[in-house]
Amino acid sequence: MSDLSVNIAGLTFKNPVTTASGTFGYGEEFREFFDPGELGGIFVKAVTGKNRDGNAYPRMAETPSGMLNSVGLQNKGIDHFCREIYPKIKDFDTRVIVNVSGSTIEEYVEVAERINELENIPSIELNISCPNVKLGGMAFGTVPAMATEVTAAVRKVYKKVLMVKLSPNVTSITELAKAVADGGADAITLINTLLGMAIDAERRRPVLSTITGGLSGPAIKPVALRMVWQVHKAVNLPIVGLGGIMNATDAIEFILAGASVIQVGTANFIDPMVSVNIVRGIEDYMKRHNVGAITELVGALRTD
Ligand code: SIN
Repeated sequence: MSDLSVNIAGLTFKNPVTTASGTFGYGEEFREFFDPGELGGIFVKAVTGKNRDGNAYPRMAETPSGMLNSVGLQNKGIDHFCREIYPKIKDFDTRVIVNVSGSTIEEYVEVAERINELENIPSIELNISCPNVKLGGMAFGTVPAMATEVTAAVRKVYKKVLMVKLSPNVTSITELAKAVADGGADAITLINTLLGMAIDAERRRPVLSTITGGLSGPAIKPVALRMVWQVHKAVNLPIVGLGGIMNATDAIEFILAGASVIQVGTANFIDPMVSVNIVRGIEDYMKRHNVGAITELVGALRTD
């Protein structure tokens, strides 16, 4: 039997396959396809302090080997999450992790404090990397001093496993990773979307209402792999890796680069079964390569 279990800051996952925030709803929506308990974890949709309607439509565009989104953190706020969503997902037999977003440090702290009280949520993913909002989001995740400040403020009130999701829209990803490590992060999620745009030549107009949006999907995989590898070498924190993972081979590549856990994102929009198939594909890879424990592969990329 292959051992697929991994550990991040004392939190165990039955396998390294999880789903990325904003691509898998609250997990509930996928129950007709498979039992979420087959996954290592689910990173649920972003939660903010108050209701957000999100950006105007159109806010999605297909691009070569990728997808642009500018959803704008649409959600019904922390009260609604605690009252309506949490009771439905709290007994999933998998790690349920909440993506915490905000426009100000106070908002991040407020949401983190509320989630800290929810017994069956063992971890949050602090989202300082959303490229689609005017206030907060990526603004915190592209300036090292601000990244440290917001992480440290949340660290004071959040007592469980604190992951921080970073933006690739920076000159030095290791500088940002070190900044959130200094703020007290337990793990780093890499990468959120790359800022991009699409143009409708016939109408001579941008496709998205917000003009720019976040690029995800296979188009960004080489950038994501490079950043996971750089951060793995530079910072002594576990990494949750994502960016264009479509199959088990992609997942293994991220693990070899240094990710302990991986997230499947855009692929969920194409095939709702993809994440559970990736678990099976990783098992198959381990058998073929005689790997007893998945942890043997974390950062095992050979560059000599
Ligand atoms: C969005 O809601 O605009 C996307 C979320 C993100 O990129 O963090």
